[in-house]
Amino acid sequence: MNAEARIRRMTAVDVDAAVALAAALPAAPQWALAAYVAALDPAMRPMRVTLAAETVDGELAGFAVASFVPPEAELESIAVAAAYQRQGIARRLFAGLARELAAAGVTGILLEVRVSNAAALATYRALGFEQAGVRRNYYAEPDEDAVLMRRGIP
Ligand SMILES: CC(C)(COP(=O)(O)OP(=O)(O)OC[C@H]1O[C@@H](n2cnc3c(N)ncnc32)[C@H](O)[C@@H]1OP(=O)(O)O)[C@@H](O)C(=O)NCCC(=O)NCCS
Repeated sequence: MNAEARIRRMTAVDVDAAVALAAALPAAPQWALAAYVAALDPAMRPMRVTLAAETVDGELAGFAVASFVPPEAELESIAVAAAYQRQGIARRLFAGLARELAAAGVTGILLEVRVSNAAALATYRALGFEQAGVRRNYYAEPDEDAVLMRRGIP
C-alpha cells in the first residue's frame, strides 16, 4: 500500500510516468519530457537530486527534483499523484532530498510557489520552510505572484 511506497533515485524509466503524473495535477510544474531527461543527466549543470516514490505495485506515486550549487539548493518540482496525497509521501521525498543535499554540502534550500497553491504552501510550512519574500508577477497563465520560501538543511 501507499505507506510502503519506496523512495529511490529517479531513473529514465520514470520519465513518461512523471510527465503523466504532473499532467494530472494542474498545480504541478509541467515539464516537458526532455526537461526530466536533462535533470537525470549527471553531466548537466546545475547538478540535481531526483527522487521517486514507487508503490509496491511499481507505480510512480510521486517525485521530487532539486537543483543545487553548494551551499544553496532550489526545490524545482515536487508532485504526488492525487490517489497518494496526504500519506506523507512529499514529507518522505523531501527528507530524502535533504539527506542527499546535506551530503553534497548544501546548507539551505529555496523554492517558489504560487500564492494560490494552498496545499503546497501548507506542505512547505509543515516541512519547515519559512516565507523569505514575494516575487511579483513571477508566474504567467495565469499571472500570479510567487511566494519565495527558504529552509535550512542541517
Ligand atoms: C504539495 C504536494 C506535493 C503534497 O504532497 P503530499 O504527499 O500529499 O504531502 P504529505 O502527505 O507529505 O503532507 C505533509 C504535510 O503537509 C501538509 N499538507 C499536505 N497537503 C495538504 C493540503 N492539501 N492541505 C493542508 N495541508 C496539507 C500537512 O501538514 C501534511 O501533514 P499531515 O497529513 O500529517 O497533516 C501535493 O499536494 C501535490 O502534488 N500537489 C500538486 C502539485 C504541486 O502543487 N506541487 C508543488 C508545486 S510548487
